[in-house]
Amino acid sequence: MNADLILVLDAGTTSTRAIAFSLEGAIIASAARPLTQGYPAPGQVEHDAGEIWRLSRDCLLEVADSVGAPRIAAIGITNQRETVVLWDKASGQPLCPAIVWQDRRTADVCAALKAEGHEPAVQATTGLLLDPYFSATKLRWAIDHWPEVAEAHAAGQLLAGTVESWLIWKLSAGTCHITDATNASRTLLMELATARWSDEMLDLFWVPAEILPEIVDCAGPLASTQLLGQRVPITGSAGDQHAASIGQACLAPGEIKATYGTGCFVLAHAGAAVPASTHRLLATLAFRLDGVNAYALEGSIFVAGAAVQWLRDGLGLIGSAAETEALARSVPDSGGVTFVPALAGLGAPHWSPGARGLITGLSGGTTKAHLARATLEAMGQQTADLTDALRADGVAVTALRVDGGMVANDWLCQDLADSLGVPVQRPAVIETTAMGAAMLAAVGAGLFADLATAAAAMVKPDRSFSPQATDDERSARRAAWARAVRLTLDA
Ligand code: G3P
Repeated sequence: MNADLILVLDAGTTSTRAIAFSLEGAIIASAARPLTQGYPAPGQVEHDAGEIWRLSRDCLLEVADSVGAPRIAAIGITNQRETVVLWDKASGQPLCPAIVWQDRRTADVCAALKAEGHEPAVQATTGLLLDPYFSATKLRWAIDHWPEVAEAHAAGQLLAGTVESWLIWKLSAGTCHITDATNASRTLLMELATARWSDEMLDLFWVPAEILPEIVDCAGPLASTQLLGQRVPITGSAGDQHAASIGQACLAPGEIKATYGTGCFVLAHAGAAVPASTHRLLATLAFRLDGVNAYALEGSIFVAGAAVQWLRDGLGLIGSAAETEALARSVPDSGGVTFVPALAGLGAPHWSPGARGLITGLSGGTTKAHLARATLEAMGQQTADLTDALRADGVAVTALRVDGGMVANDWLCQDLADSLGVPVQRPAVIETTAMGAAMLAAVGAGLFADLATAAAAMVKPDRSFSPQATDDERSARRAAWARAVRLTLDA
């Protein structure tokens, strides 16, 4: 049997999935498991790294078994970023809960560092801002607050990393402690220009260098694993948003994607030089191949699909996320309702970890259809905040490539085009995160010469949504949104 498939492990925030791709970009088989979410206190979000590993292994085995392990040429890994895992090198067990990217427990530490004037140096070195979203303060918090972690450190047994680092360590039976450069670029500890750990940042955040993984490229012979009696190379790795950008073939400056998952993350490819934002966007890696960095500007929205999930699970307003499309279509507008879904603080461009959600404009006539519509409209408005910031940073925003579970909703895609005033393009396979990891793994395994060749073979367009709203309509909605955001920030 020919090894003609790439097996991708996508360890996301709410679920872990494995997907087998053909080299033409078709999904051949997949498996998924939901991940338990821990909310130990307001603003805190935890995962069980042991569960992430077990579910990942189960999904990989299920897909490998269904397609036949000999067909798997290589494995690509992609993951929720910033989330930190700390484990014991001897036992191979996590020492504490994984602190998730959405967790705000280190907001005070970040505020204090900001007040001491550290943010400009942090931004110049890492491309990031001082926010609890990123990994460094979470790592330090774990060492300071969980005795098992401090003890393992004192005994020289502590290892740490982001989720892909943990999974590669487990998959390689503890032989490989690495992190790809895109994931490392989200820790606040990596110098963006060189893709090396920064001594200055390690000192500032008080993170011991010896617990960290080695930073490696996103493609190549990264590690290998035993899968149903076969040795399979791991040849691709990238944080999920970087992978989605690759899976959307954003390979040249000015090509922009937005992924609507738990949160929404907009990445604009920026070329070979480190970009600088003066409008509260992040500079980050697009990818690192053959030791050469490509960069991107990023806007991170913390709550996208999570707002719809809240309508379903928190309020019980809907039975399934898919119902929001029919509800939004059933009313001519949101009835004056605006929902700022700051359920986990506000990310770019506001960076307000203490902000909380706000619904304005309620009246006796407000129905769940209005609320559902306002929730979907918040996606367009939050995205427009980011495209405005990109434009202010000098990026020509001429179109937006969208992906993630939410964009199966045609109404949402049309509303995005109307809110942004540019065409919104949707690919045939909206699993672009996994697609990007598959492309990296295929390049890393030598099955394609480069990402452009992989994109030509694997990425196919579906549909483009053209803006239909008038400029006046767009401006009126932007103004209503801006008022509601101001109220949120002032509350
Ligand atoms: O930065 C967080 C991001 O990587 C999480 O992505 O798709 O799990 O919401 P997602």
